[in-house]
Amino acid sequence: MRLGQFVTEGGRNPQVRVWGETDVVVVSAPLPGVLRVRLAPQARASGLGFPRLPEKRSFAVCPDLPEAGPLNVQEDGETLRVRGGGLTLHLNRQTGAWRVTEGGDGHGTPERELTSVPGWSGEAPTARPALDAERFNLRRSRLSVDAPDGAAYLGFGERVGPLDKRGMVLTFWNTDCYPHHTDTDPLYISVPFTTVVQGEQAHGLFVDETWRMTADVARTHPRELTFASAGPELDVYVLAGPRPADVLRRYAALTGHAPLPPLWALGAAQSRWGYRTADDLRAVIAGYRERDLPLDSVYIDIEYMDAFKVWTVNRTGFPDLGAFVREAAGQGVRLVPIIDPGIKLEADYDVYEQAMKNDYLVRTARGDVLVGEVWPDPAVFPDFTRPEVVAWWAARHKLFTDAGIQGQWNDMNEPACFSLAPPRETEGKTLPYDALHGSRPHLEMHNAYANPMSQASRAGYAKYSPEIRPWILSRAGYAGIQRHATVWTGDNTSSWSHLALSLPMIAGLGLSGIPFAAADVGGFGGDATGELLARWYQAAVGYAFLRNHSALGTADQEPWRFGEPYTSVIRAALELRYRLLPHLYTLAEQATRTGLPVLRPLALHYAGDEDALREDSQYLLGQGLMVAPVMAAGHRRRQVYLPAGRWAAVFNLSEFGEIHEGPAHVTADAPLHTLPLYLKAGEALPLTEPAAHTAQARWPRVTWLAHLGASGFVGQLYEDAGNGPAEGRLTRLIGDRVGSALHVRRETTGEAATPEQREVLQIIGLDPVREVQGAAAFSYEDGVLRLTLPARWEEVTVTWVE
Ligand code: GLC
Repeated sequence: MRLGQFVTEGGRNPQVRVWGETDVVVVSAPLPGVLRVRLAPQARASGLGFPRLPEKRSFAVCPDLPEAGPLNVQEDGETLRVRGGGLTLHLNRQTGAWRVTEGGDGHGTPERELTSVPGWSGEAPTARPALDAERFNLRRSRLSVDAPDGAAYLGFGERVGPLDKRGMVLTFWNTDCYPHHTDTDPLYISVPFTTVVQGEQAHGLFVDETWRMTADVARTHPRELTFASAGPELDVYVLAGPRPADVLRRYAALTGHAPLPPLWALGAAQSRWGYRTADDLRAVIAGYRERDLPLDSVYIDIEYMDAFKVWTVNRTGFPDLGAFVREAAGQGVRLVPIIDPGIKLEADYDVYEQAMKNDYLVRTARGDVLVGEVWPDPAVFPDFTRPEVVAWWAARHKLFTDAGIQGQWNDMNEPACFSLAPPRETEGKTLPYDALHGSRPHLEMHNAYANPMSQASRAGYAKYSPEIRPWILSRAGYAGIQRHATVWTGDNTSSWSHLALSLPMIAGLGLSGIPFAAADVGGFGGDATGELLARWYQAAVGYAFLRNHSALGTADQEPWRFGEPYTSVIRAALELRYRLLPHLYTLAEQATRTGLPVLRPLALHYAGDEDALREDSQYLLGQGLMVAPVMAAGHRRRQVYLPAGRWAAVFNLSEFGEIHEGPAHVTADAPLHTLPLYLKAGEALPLTEPAAHTAQARWPRVTWLAHLGASGFVGQLYEDAGNGPAEGRLTRLIGDRVGSALHVRRETTGEAATPEQREVLQIIGLDPVREVQGAAAFSYEDGVLRLTLPARWEEVTVTWVE
């Protein structure tokens, strides 16, 4: 028998260990609805500590999970049943095949199969030929999962292409690629997690391996999903649904929630590779302010450093960084400097000297410090996979915190490396497979590299500026990166196809547990046009953050560079963004508890609706606001898909039009200044007024925009200081509909020193109003009721004629 023996181990982390001659399986239930099946084929030959596998250090899974749940084991002939966390593993000890079911536990719920694994296997390490690609067996272990007809596969990290990855072969190997195309794979971020959607049901599969890996998503074999890893084991998590949002919640509980961004980071941001000096940045800020364009931050690219030496500032361009940070803050603008991992190899440069002295660097297989080329040339690479290196890097952040900086941009952390000295073959512009992180090969540590680098940034700010809420942006990442950083989609181009691509890419990151993600607005490479930039700003009103960024040598693309009508259209889009901030910030706070992203694909809330599942040119902000931007040159209208429910057109959040009954495909008229938006019946959105920059997420003026549903509506508003500890107040606006009367009230939890709020309530979908009680004033026009609420209101009642 392949897996003849088993033992149950109790203690803090109960597990069932099953083994045979060569293989080991370890089963545990880390969280409710989550079963972990750690498979070690050929464990004996791989020296994995057979039959007791060593503790694993995961870069993805939260280090502080609660105690794992108890397990119940039953032997039934050759089948071993392990029940835990509400799920059951059925393991065939003869063949090693297994499946996971839920329900069927005698409590009335029928048994339902989540996933079935007909096979998994591994190869014992072999003698190693010389060439890089052959030196490592890149398919050392593999896992085949049934891929039933019609099942869709969402997520898998940062990918181009449609939301459903069925039919693709995906590689997990973080790659600096410029430019990417509509079929480029892999990109910068690897997350081996997918939500499998079958009709209305969903479950999740997460293979927690940082080793280079591929997933053949029913391409070679139309009914099989195959993971092939260069590592010796496969650490599989099966996550229960029943809906896609439930899967995502469980994945977030397992791999960690993203911390709340500071409010300022959600405001407009301007960046450019090419701003060199404080004067350049002054001119940018003035450019915004002179034209009444909102602006909250400017990003400073590599030119601020002294000869690309990280943790230095070029004194000619920035004679006094701290003074400049204060000056910008006086205008409501924060600075976000870039940091790359590559350290210039230069005698007497303290960062290099310390790294050398303390042995903090990645080495070659022969044991020398590995030397490559990035912006600094020659460059060496810190080994962030070691805790002492993380602590050292964290301490370097004092340079920024002393200057009053609160946000940071971690780039090139795949890690990118343009060439090696002496030259070596590599997969993508990075380090060779056999470079060493301590004793571990780069082939294993490559994908993990960016996580501890960003963890170091967070630790640095926590240590030196504990009173602020830092903003950390990272280009690369592995599963769990959301705990440390927000991400952007890397080097896109100023093209319509990249504008359109940004939505499924961001949505896909959201489905991979990364709730805060965005693309460079206007495009990084190439030259934008006024129309492209304007449409991009509109499409980006719901990106988690909104940064215009472009490459060295490309045409300027600040909002005013293309003259009118574009500057005005962009101003309106930015103002729309600022009006939406109370809603966006509320969604951001929800994301920190639920893992649900800010920008959501329709698939997340409309499982079972095939049109919604495949729609990737629109998105939802929360459950009820549909954003359908125009993303094609010259187009002045577009098709919009509205799933089941009633949807009111609220274009630009100010033009209220038709109400549609979904599911329906409708045409939206969208001349250049128009962003088509639809609000679902039953939803109320908190909005505020545009401003030059953010201040606090305690809004002196709130306008609730509500669309009356069959039972009324509900809205949510989270408020706090916008920086510092995320302790605030949650207000629920509740409109209860009883016949032809509506009773509106608020429920509040938590405290926030909120200024006197002036609230307006706009309600769409009411018939002519007969009477209003409790409001300071009201008007009714074109089917929209507008109520001005008194200072300390308790309840408002509206009755209407039916
Ligand atoms: C990389 C980054 C880009 C940055 C450039 C220079 O290409 O992705 O955003 O501007 O490096 O630092």
